[in-house]
Amino acid sequence: MTRVAILISGGGSNMVRLCESMAVDHPARPVLVLSDRPDAGGLDKARALGVSAQAVDRKAFSDRAGFEAKLMHALEAVSADVVCLAGFMRILSPAFADHWAGRMLNIHPSLLPKYPGLGTHARALEAGDLEAGCTVHLVTSVLDDGPILGQARVPVLDEDTPATLAERVLGMEHKLYPAVLRRFVQGDAAPLYLP
Ligand code: GRF
Repeated sequence: MTRVAILISGGGSNMVRLCESMAVDHPARPVLVLSDRPDAGGLDKARALGVSAQAVDRKAFSDRAGFEAKLMHALEAVSADVVCLAGFMRILSPAFADHWAGRMLNIHPSLLPKYPGLGTHARALEAGDLEAGCTVHLVTSVLDDGPILGQARVPVLDEDTPATLAERVLGMEHKLYPAVLRRFVQGDAAPLYLP
């Protein structure tokens, strides 16, 4: 049984979908949810699903190295095999990414390689894109880079604002991430394209 840890910073809706999917006929199980923010709404949602959850408060550390050492310790304490970043809003060091190379996934709300970084939906609207979407990829030392494991597309509508587009994309994130994780754990790294 593959042991999956999930890193979050906020509401954790992707984390919830990952945990729910692992609850049914799945080769992996969630062993820990970690947040860099003690006030992340996702922590209580994880606990309500019976998954242990803890905050590693970034603000309690004077530098990234100390913060990452604590994260690493927590992940090793539960013998995590795979780490899923799900709305985790911290940039991890190359050393951290290298340690988890091939075993750490991220979901990003754009059709990478378009729009790495923040503000993806506003940037897609400004560019006049006709479609948007989300990408699950393996994490490397380069931000929002790394081999693509899956992508899902949604149309951009004339009346879209960044908020309405984000909501439509998030709906696809909830489908894509669990589907990709299942395939990944089964050893299938061929990219999945939805719909
Ligand atoms: C998602 O859109 C994710 O792609 C982005 O932050 C959002 C997190 O949402 N990086 P949630 O915490 O999973 O609800």
